[in-house]
Amino acid sequence: MALVEVRNLNKIYSQGESPLGAKISGRNEVRAVDDVSLDIHSGETVGLVGESGSGKSTLGRLILRLIEPTSGSIRFEDRDLLAASHGEMRRLRRDMQIIFQDPFASLDPRFRVEDIIAEPLVIHRNAQRNPQGTRNTKDGIRDRVVELLRAVGLDESIRQRFPHEFSGGQRQRIGIARALALRPKFVVADEPVSALDVSVGAQIVNLLAQLQRDFGLTYLFISHSMPVVRYLSTRIAVMYRGKIVEVGSTEQITERPQHPYTRSLLEATPEVEV
Ligand SMILES: Nc1ncnc2c1ncn2[C@@H]1O[C@H](COP(=O)(O)OP(=O)(O)O)[C@@H](O)[C@H]1O
Ligand SMILES: [Mg+2]
Repeated sequence: MALVEVRNLNKIYSQGESPLGAKISGRNEVRAVDDVSLDIHSGETVGLVGESGSGKSTLGRLILRLIEPTSGSIRFEDRDLLAASHGEMRRLRRDMQIIFQDPFASLDPRFRVEDIIAEPLVIHRNAQRNPQGTRNTKDGIRDRVVELLRAVGLDESIRQRFPHEFSGGQRQRIGIARALALRPKFVVADEPVSALDVSVGAQIVNLLAQLQRDFGLTYLFISHSMPVVRYLSTRIAVMYRGKIVEVGSTEQITERPQHPYTRSLLEATPEVEV
């Protein structure tokens, strides 16, 4: 049984819905995600790669149920996510987190680092998920924040500072610490290094790999860049115009691509060291 099972998932946006004036196809609708099926197994990293506008973010958000699909099914640990009640969904949310592309927009500038990282713990205060099985007390939360800062390679002394005091790479580490606060099993990383310089991005990718080993995480790692995706992924799913056109092991996809679009992606992206 896969950790995440996506079956025949669709997300159709109607004309006029797009704030950015999306391309309109066919009957005045955008098939942002078009009949997608995908399994993600526990402990693996599935890389989701495709050009801008191919539907990667929409698929990632659908899987976390941050947006509702037009049709299809999503199972998480064999539970039907779309049938989950509000309360069940709230519990499930602890196990599924997202890391965003833009570490500037995703951290509230009015809050201190420790409050940003602690917020999920406060929201789920009574969830009894800390290792001692005790409730998340104020001290417990502070200790957990320190632990998380260390895990993402930041000094605990920065707890009282504000996001704007940090570089993009440091902010992304803060965002990652927040995403890991509730000990999730599954993390969608949506272009987590695309806003960063290459060398800083490489450090973040290495951190994500380290955290996966340390905490047994499962990733859906979204990027438009094949070199970044191939570095981290066990398997790669190639997305084009809302469809997954090819999925296979990283070796299969990069050494023996079957679909012309996959070949064009590989040609467009020269080998770079990450
Ligand atoms: N809220 C929305 N309303 C209308 N169209 C949208 C919305 N979000 C995304 N789209 C459209 O769906 C398609 C896929 O977008 P997206 O999932 O953001 O692609 P990617 O992450 O691969 O760049 C695009 O054509 C985009 O314009
Ligand atoms: Mg996107």
